[in-house]
Amino acid sequence: MEAGTVPDCLAAQCIANMDKIGMTELELAYSVSTPFGAGIETTAGTLTVFVLAMLHYPQVVKKAQIELDTVVGHERLPEFQDRQNLSYINAIVNETLRWRPVAILGGTPHAVVADDVYKEMYIPRGSTVFANFDRIMHDPEMFPDPEDFRPERFIDSSDPRIQDFDLPFGFGRRQCPGQHLALNSLFINISRLLWGFDITPALDEQGNPVLPVLPPDSNMDAIPSRTSVSLGVFEVAVKSPGRYMQALTILQQHISRLAVTIRRFWESAQRTTRRSGGIDAVVIFAILRSKTNAFPVSTVIIEQYRPPIDKFIIGLIDEGETAEQAAIRELREETGYKADEVVESSPVVVADPGMTNANMKLVILNVFFEGALETPDQQLDSGEFIVRKVVELKKLHETLQEYDRKVYKLTLSRTSMLTTMQGFAIDAKLHHLATGYALALQGI
Ligand code: HEM
Repeated sequence: MEAGTVPDCLAAQCIANMDKIGMTELELAYSVSTPFGAGIETTAGTLTVFVLAMLHYPQVVKKAQIELDTVVGHERLPEFQDRQNLSYINAIVNETLRWRPVAILGGTPHAVVADDVYKEMYIPRGSTVFANFDRIMHDPEMFPDPEDFRPERFIDSSDPRIQDFDLPFGFGRRQCPGQHLALNSLFINISRLLWGFDITPALDEQGNPVLPVLPPDSNMDAIPSRTSVSLGVFEVAVKSPGRYMQALTILQQHISRLAVTIRRFWESAQRTTRRSGGIDAVVIFAILRSKTNAFPVSTVIIEQYRPPIDKFIIGLIDEGETAEQAAIRELREETGYKADEVVESSPVVVADPGMTNANMKLVILNVFFEGALETPDQQLDSGEFIVRKVVELKKLHETLQEYDRKVYKLTLSRTSMLTTMQGFAIDAKLHHLATGYALALQGI
């Protein structure tokens, strides 16, 4: 603030404009501090409930992550602008607010302005009433199977009260003035946590998941026990290696207050390489062609995290398999594409002559399509994360040059600006091939 790089805080602005605002210092103190009391624990408590729900409902996590991957993709964090396109995430926000409402008794006491009768009960004017949010949110008529955490109820319903769900924020003139801020905070936290992490229970010594106990289904007597949610120990695992650094930042900014263990996600395979076939690995070059020229001749490249190569060995060829069979199998598993024929299989080649005795074969495969390009499902092992990209063959060289420029710069903590570069290392063999192809196109 002193350096003039950030605007004055709300309190400083209010004090500077006290006369214009027409409030005393005491009134201002209440005004600027209220949002802290009303807004912080409510939002943070709702986020704790969200983590609890995700531990118990892993299928919700999966569904949300599919939506995030489709709408936001793998390369950037969700932003506020994405909110209107992430209906399932918005439904999770609503369901979290409903499932275990933090303001269980409506937040603020209200006064009855006129004598009233409700269910044969006479309520005289001036009585103090509390709205029993907890029971309203668990009304089986409005929310069938209310104990189930089911975001779909907010998508499928045509009930305007559910479509436009502002119930968690109260009623009438005293309705929560911070609701838009709260919904934005919950959206950005929840979407980013699900984008970056899998949230799973911690395991006991035998490897069994230990789920935090759900607070009991409430009745009025049980309500006090629902006001606090104890999560115990749980784990968040970074969803994919490419997201590790960004995910770490989210964790630091958003859920550092929770006791979590981060399990880093390593993709690795410890396998001995040279099988009886005498070859360590196979390099695959797939040519994607349309029989009707519906798309230009292309190839498919993959983005895959590789741990330090001196510690892990990646073997590709299974026992009893030829290099060609391994190439067809790997292409199918990693990209989903099914090769129609082997175009060429190179002699055994050595990657770094004199530096390693690792050898391999280059297998070129043809993949034909009747017309337009298809994107079949990959057949990945659990824990494997591979992004495939179809690239026009003519643009392969240019695409690899672009990868070289793709780096993320990340701030790791609020106090220190630590910048980390996380880029892509291009496989030498792929780059040589792309350069050769580019030179051939130029007639060199
Ligand atoms: C998940 C987050 C939140 C929930 C569930 C929530 C819920 C509520 C509820 C139920 C009330 C009482 C409404 C009534 O009496 O009818 C209330 C009041 C209030 N809330 Fe929130 N709130 C949240 C976040 C926030 C935030 C972020 C702020 C401010 C930055 C805020 C500021 C207030 C204030 C000032 C009142 C008192 C309004 C009045 O009495 O006139 N709330 N909130």
